[in-house]
Formats: sequence, C-alpha cells, structure tokens
Amino acid sequence: MPGPHKFFYGNSGAEAVECALKLARYHTGRQNVIAFLGAFHGRTMGALSLTGSKPQQKRRFSPLVPGVTHVRYPYAYRGCTGGAQEEEAFSMGCARYIEEKLFKTILAPEEVAAIFIEPIQGEGGYVVAPDNFLRELRALCDRHGILLVVDEVQSGAGRTGKWWAIEHSGVEPDMVCMAKGIASGMPLGICMTKAEIMDWVPGSHASTFGGNPVSIAAALATMDIIQREAMANAAKVGELMLERLRGWKETHPLVGDVRGRGLMIGIELVKDKATREPANALRNRVETLAFERGLMVLGCGETSIRLCPPLILSEQEATVALDILEESLSVVEEEHRQAGAVAGTSA
Ligand SMILES: Cc1ncc(COP(=O)(O)O)c(C=O)c1O
Repeated sequence: MPGPHKFFYGNSGAEAVECALKLARYHTGRQNVIAFLGAFHGRTMGALSLTGSKPQQKRRFSPLVPGVTHVRYPYAYRGCTGGAQEEEAFSMGCARYIEEKLFKTILAPEEVAAIFIEPIQGEGGYVVAPDNFLRELRALCDRHGILLVVDEVQSGAGRTGKWWAIEHSGVEPDMVCMAKGIASGMPLGICMTKAEIMDWVPGSHASTFGGNPVSIAAALATMDIIQREAMANAAKVGELMLERLRGWKETHPLVGDVRGRGLMIGIELVKDKATREPANALRNRVETLAFERGLMVLGCGETSIRLCPPLILSEQEATVALDILEESLSVVEEEHRQAGAVAGTSA
C-alpha cells in the first residue's frame, strides 16, 4: 500500500476493525458494507456484525450493527452445495456474484462503503483466498468507489512470509487491520490507511490506552525481529512443513486438504475423501492426543486443524511438532478404522 499513511492505535484486533468500519462510513458517506461467510473480525458490536463464523458468537446479541451483507468466501475445497469445483472458476464466481447478483438485486453499489476480507480466513478454517479472487475484488471496488479493507489480524505481521498476506496477490488494499503478533502479545491493534482516507476531524475516534508507550515499544522491537529474521524464517520453515504435510493427503486417510502460506497452515480432516464428509469429532480427538503428547494445536473452521506457531520456530522444532501430530493422527485413523470395522460386522 503506497504511502503516505495514517494510523489509529487501539488495544485489540476488534478495535482495529471497529475503527476501519467507522472510518469507511465516515470517509465515503455510505452506510453499507460487505463481509464474508466464515469471517472472524472480533467480538465488539461492529466487528461482530462483520463476523460470519459461528452462531454462538452472535447468539442473543442481536440486533447488531445494520448494513452488513455476507457473501460466500472462495473456499474451493468445499465449493457450493453439489460438490467441490475447480478453484479458479469457483473463486471467480464468488467475486462476480457481488456485482452480477448483489448489486443488481438488493444492494446499490453506490451505498456500499467497504468490503472487509481476511486474505486468509483464520477462524473460518485457514482458507487462502486465491489471487485472482482478490484481484477481481480490487477491480470491483475501484469500479464502484468502494474501500477494500483487509483484516490481517491473524494473517499479518510476517506470519505468511511477507509482512501482509495480501502482498502475495499483488493487490493493494485501502486499509489494513493488524493486531495479535504485531506486539508479541502486548495489547495493540492498529488500523492503517492511505492518508487521504483518514480524513475525520479530531475527536471523531480515539482510545485512552491506544498507542500506549509499552505496547508501542513492544511493537517496535517485534517489527525489528520480524524484518531481520522471523519473516524469512516463517517462509522457509513453513514451506518445509507444507511440503511434508501435502504428502499426508496421499498417506493419511483422514487428511482431505492441506493449505496455507508460511507459518499459517490448515489441515482439513474428512471421514471420506470422496464425499469430503467433515470429521469434527475426529479432529477434536487428534487435538487432544497431540496435547497429551506435548503439542498444542487449535481447531478452526468446522473440521480443520490450524498450525500457527511462533515465527521463530526452528526446523527441528517443526519436525518434532509434525511427528507428534502425525502420530496422533495415525492413532485416530486406526481408532476410526476399527470403529468402522465393528460397525460393519454388526450390520
Ligand atoms: C482475523 C481476526 N480479526 C480480528 C480478531 C479480533 O482480535 P481481538 O481478539 O484482538 O479483538 C481476530 C481474533 O482472533 C482475528 O483472527
């Protein structure tokens, strides 16, 4: 994103998103926004309104902020009902739907302030948006004067081997939301925009603790480490991990898909590779077994495991982690096989 830039400093990812939402409305004078199914943008009222991940995150909190329309994320492995589709065509269809259906039926484009997107959905399942989709989204925004806001709270700060995941596509956003790793765990959320966009008058938006000196010092030190070594390490070690994990699609019956960039890797488990039936309980069991063996992994989406280790992970540590994960996976696969055999016998 070419400079000059302006920044808002808050204390969390949700606050960075909240700022982007308010600023998008303020700057454009438009009320509506578009977000994606599967998205996670935070839990404050505005950010929660953009979130489209799990019903429990919204249950009993309505009515939320009005004016948000959720559309399909280019999750090609799952595709539309009726089966998976070829990635490029499917993701192009997701982008074109906005202009060809939404804008021609229920949403006037000149009333849309922004499109919010995670270049890699985190909570939604570590799903990578294809480059052609992001480029089409950019073009669509340009055609209609809509701001493109990328939520890099999870995917940013060097994790994918570049500062921001959106960089892999060559697309330049209008705003970037960042938090999480940017200050190594100290509370800091930042909304960065092209300078001309942050045109609100003083007093429009602020936070008492935003940009506190301790968090800023932590961020400066963190950014130095990311720039000097951690980002390159994430690219190198992440690729080694991905290389090994891609092989699991052939060797492990439960592994349906492996995807990611750098040290942001998702492994989607399925009961059956042909039907792609989600394996939620089996995924949870793998997590538990891995934890008992000393490896903490977290699920994401309906049936995926996320790997998002510290960016300083060594090759040796990565090997140990994948050994533990593979062993846990093998145990669950054997349990699943035996359960199937027993069910088959009694039938
Ligand atoms: C993509 C994304 N956006 C926003 C948030 C919200 O961040 P926070 O929990 O710091 O408010 C998260 C948190 O998981 C996230 O993954």
